[in-house]
Amino acid sequence: MKDNDKGKTGAKGKRPRLLPGLKVADGYTRHPFDLEFGVRTSGLIAGRHLASGNKHDRHNTAYYGVAPSVFEAIVARWRRYRPLPPIDEFTFVDLGAGMGRAVLLASQFPFRAAIGVELNPTLARIARKNLALWRAAGRALAPMKIVCRDAVDFEFPAGPCVTFLFNPFGAPVLRQIVASWSRTCAGRARQLDILYVNNEQESVLERQAGFARLFQGQVRRSRADAIADHRILANQPEGEYASANYEDCSIYRWVGTALNS
Ligand SMILES: C[S@@+](CC[C@H](N)C(=O)[O-])C[C@H]1O[C@@H](n2cnc3c(N)ncnc32)[C@H](O)[C@@H]1O
Repeated sequence: MKDNDKGKTGAKGKRPRLLPGLKVADGYTRHPFDLEFGVRTSGLIAGRHLASGNKHDRHNTAYYGVAPSVFEAIVARWRRYRPLPPIDEFTFVDLGAGMGRAVLLASQFPFRAAIGVELNPTLARIARKNLALWRAAGRALAPMKIVCRDAVDFEFPAGPCVTFLFNPFGAPVLRQIVASWSRTCAGRARQLDILYVNNEQESVLERQAGFARLFQGQVRRSRADAIADHRILANQPEGEYASANYEDCSIYRWVGTALNS
């Protein structure tokens, strides 16, 4: 797979090919988050353009960075659901990290660590560069890293964890992940919370015994994010993704102790 880093040239002096969705002709527009912080997290890449050779590629929804206002609102809401260990005991894990926008945002909280797991190697490479820029600018309160791996194979660290999902994959992948959490958490009191933005596969979590839903509802984008997202989505050549001024979200917590799968 070719790198799509801007400004670099290939062996024969040619610019590497950009992933579909990252060209101006594809409707590419820089999000204000990137303009403000000098990182590269903009763009909309359909799942079919993110082939990595993995059997779960076909369940990849798309790459799209979360609206910072939605991210901040869902984290603020999560922090209201007590009792919680202090935030500095939690590891934040973004399953489907893309170019790392949510990991960058998470690192502004004093998490024990902020980890992004991304299947596509080109996106993971861009994310690592973004993390390096963020660190160098002194913006990270938490240590950050990107792991290039299928989310199904990611082993969660010990201790309290909060998982972030911005509609990264279809039901078959999410089902495997939550079933595996349920097996590893079975019989134990484990602090494992899930923040699910654009919760299209909500029914998978609803059906998985051991998890309780703490919140379900719409989280509104800020005006600036709504304008930016609308501009990007309105420019899509194939117009396949819709935009609203809010995201349907939910928050789940592991409360079970029964082995159910
Ligand atoms: C909608 S983007 C979210 C990006 C990021 N979480 C954010 O909020 O800015 C979903 C990402 O999940 C990734 N993804 C899809 N299936 C995956 C899998 N099985 N394992 C890891 N990452 C996956 C996609 O490549 C894509 O980058």
